[in-house]
Amino acid sequence: MSKQKLRPFVYLVAVVAAMGGLAFGFDIGGSGGTFVMKGFREHFGWGWPIPEEPDSQVLAQEGWINALFTLGALVGAVPAGSIADFLGRRVTIMMAAGLLTIAAIVQAAAVDMTMMYVGRVLCGVSIGMESAIVPVYISECAPEHFRGELSTMWQLAVTVGIVVASIINIPLSTWEEGWRISYGGNIVFSVVLLLMMVFVMPESPRWLVARDKREAAAQVLAKLRFPQEVEPEVEEIQAKYEEERSDGKGSWLDLLRSENRMGCRTALGVSVQAFQQLTGINAIMFFAPAMLSRFFSSTAALYGTLAINIVNHLGTYITFGTVDRLGRVTLLVISGAGMCIALLIVGGLASMPATQDVGVAVIALSCVFVVFFAFGWGPVAWTVCSEMYPLRLRGKAISVTTAANWAMASVVGKLFPIVSDPAALNLSGTFFLFAAFCFLATVVTYGWLPETANVTLEEVDDIFASHRPKIMRATWREARRDSILDARIAKSTVASTV
Ligand code: BGC
Repeated sequence: MSKQKLRPFVYLVAVVAAMGGLAFGFDIGGSGGTFVMKGFREHFGWGWPIPEEPDSQVLAQEGWINALFTLGALVGAVPAGSIADFLGRRVTIMMAAGLLTIAAIVQAAAVDMTMMYVGRVLCGVSIGMESAIVPVYISECAPEHFRGELSTMWQLAVTVGIVVASIINIPLSTWEEGWRISYGGNIVFSVVLLLMMVFVMPESPRWLVARDKREAAAQVLAKLRFPQEVEPEVEEIQAKYEEERSDGKGSWLDLLRSENRMGCRTALGVSVQAFQQLTGINAIMFFAPAMLSRFFSSTAALYGTLAINIVNHLGTYITFGTVDRLGRVTLLVISGAGMCIALLIVGGLASMPATQDVGVAVIALSCVFVVFFAFGWGPVAWTVCSEMYPLRLRGKAISVTTAANWAMASVVGKLFPIVSDPAALNLSGTFFLFAAFCFLATVVTYGWLPETANVTLEEVDDIFASHRPKIMRATWREARRDSILDARIAKSTVASTV
């Protein structure tokens, strides 16, 4: 019976930890909008009103403001797993929240571009750390039947952050100093997160077991589970960890080994995170205002972007009712296929003359694309990666997969403006390219990704051990070998009868 219910405290853990996601979203939704704010442009000498012909130095600085954030996140994600294994999940989240507080202050107080760049890197590092560890922390605290839903809190928070930032950017744009809030507003989330982590949130029970603190783990689980569930779960975690420990401490190289199918699991996690970015979501998130301004005035384009962001948020609720019932793979497959079709249509539309009717259709189809992303690849990529590795290697594996996400985010952010230029692939060609990646992502998840819903984190090893890919080279090889053998037998029969 208790399996059907959750202790309220476990909700609180997920909601509080997900505040890191709020900060992530607030940055995605807020920073780009400052580029068209009068106060920001004048402060950094970018010129106002916005010149028709973009200045190359300004374009370069815009590029750096985005790139230093994503590259910083990549740098933050890499050590995050090891820090979280060494010092604990809770302390790592605290460190990231503290750093984010400093980053928010530096950006909001930026007197010149150098200070802004420093703030962007610090901000990126802290968000990179949080994006690696928060989903793991939530997964390790959640009971198996609700793990998908609780992990989705991370993505829900990201989408709330994006909406909040894009709404408040509208009034902030009329105030000379408004841009400082667009960058510094994160301080609210980081300070609340920091205080809650210090005073209220527990350490992950799984990390405690891994540190031989069985008693402490049982005490934490007593808050997160119903009384009769505590001992059996501690037993299960402990037994599994003992078994893992006999394989050694867990090195970076172990991520590539064939034992336990780790090499395959690492490749899958990296692919899932890279594909999340190769769907093209951030081309829409970052560049929607610029794309929509081909069809509408810049204010209408901002409202169009807001509509897309709200749809992104609302779409995430679909995941709550489905991720633990239908499973991760089903959601990823439906989501990938839906995005692929929507992108093919948007690509076709983008090649038509830029009338307002076409613009409305582009917004509508972008919303369809975003809904498919919002209930599938958005949340589920983070969830799957946080739960598919053994405790011994989880920290390192999550660093690698999260770094893949940020590396791809940097590549897409850097290349999209270049590739979508009419001199290169142009906008429609770029959408077709993203559609091809969505197709590939769908095939890979359908063919290779095992279902991890509704099993404990300790049972995931068995799931991988018994999983047989649906699309398998070995099957093709066997079929080919059989047909060659058949042909040989047929040939020798013919020869013997002659
Ligand atoms: C992705 C971000 C994206 C956001 C949009 C996240 O899951 O990692 O890159 O901007 O979703 O909601």
